Amino acid sequence: MMLAGFAPVLSTACGDASAGTIDEDAVLGEILAFDQGGFTKVNAAPVPSAHVAARVDIWVTAASAALYLQIDPPDYSTPVAFPEGATIVKRHFADEAATMVDGFTVMHKGPAGYAPAANDWWWARVNEDGSIAVSGDGGGETQLCVDCHAPASGTDLVLGVDPADHAP
Ligand code: HEC
Repeated sequence: MMLAGFAPVLSTACGDASAGTIDEDAVLGEILAFDQGGFTKVNAAPVPSAHVAARVDIWVTAASAALYLQIDPPDYSTPVAFPEGATIVKRHFADEAATMVDGFTVMHKGPAGYAPAANDWWWARVNEDGSIAVSGDGGGETQLCVDCHAPASGTDLVLGVDPADHAP
C-alpha cells in the first residue's frame, strides 16, 4: 500500500524516458560496495534468518537506515515507505559463527510504476562472485520473495529486524 504523503517523492520519475526500468549493472555495483560507506548496517551481531542462511547482516542505504529502524516486527501497523533508490542488502552467512559468506539478497526501490504489485521493489539473489542468480520485479522467480514479505504490507514489504537486535 502506498501512502499519499510519499507520492511527491515517488513521482519524480514521471516523464523520464527511463521511468519503469532498473539499471541492474548500476545497482549491482552499488550492492557489491555495500561495506564501502554508502550503507549502514542496521543489526548488531549477525541475526538468524527466515532466508536460506544460518545468519545475516542487513545493510541499508544510509539515508534510509532510520526508516528501516522504525519497523518493529511483527507489528507492521505503523506505516513506513521507502523512497526511490533505497537499497536493502542482506549479507548471507552459511554458518552460525558468520564466517562463511554466501552471497546476498537485495531489495532496490525502483521508479514509481516499475512494479505496482510489488511496491516498485526490484528483488534479487546475488552470488558471492557478484553474478545475479535471480532477479526481477516480483513476478516469475521473484514471486516467492513478495509472497513471503507480504505480512509487511504496512511497511512497504520490508520485514525488519527485532529492535533488540538493532545496532547501537
Ligand atoms: C521464507 C520467507 C521468505 C522468502 C521466500 C524471502 N524472504 Fe526476504 N525476508 C524474510 C524475513 C522473515 C525477513 C526479515 C529478516 C530475516 O528473517 O532474515 C526478510 C528480509 C529480507 C531483506 C531485508 C529487508 C527486510 O525485509 O527486512 C531483504 C533484502 C530480503 N528479505 C530479500 C528477499 C529476496 C530478494 C527474496 C527472494 C529471492 C526473499 N527475500 C525471499 C522472509 C523471506
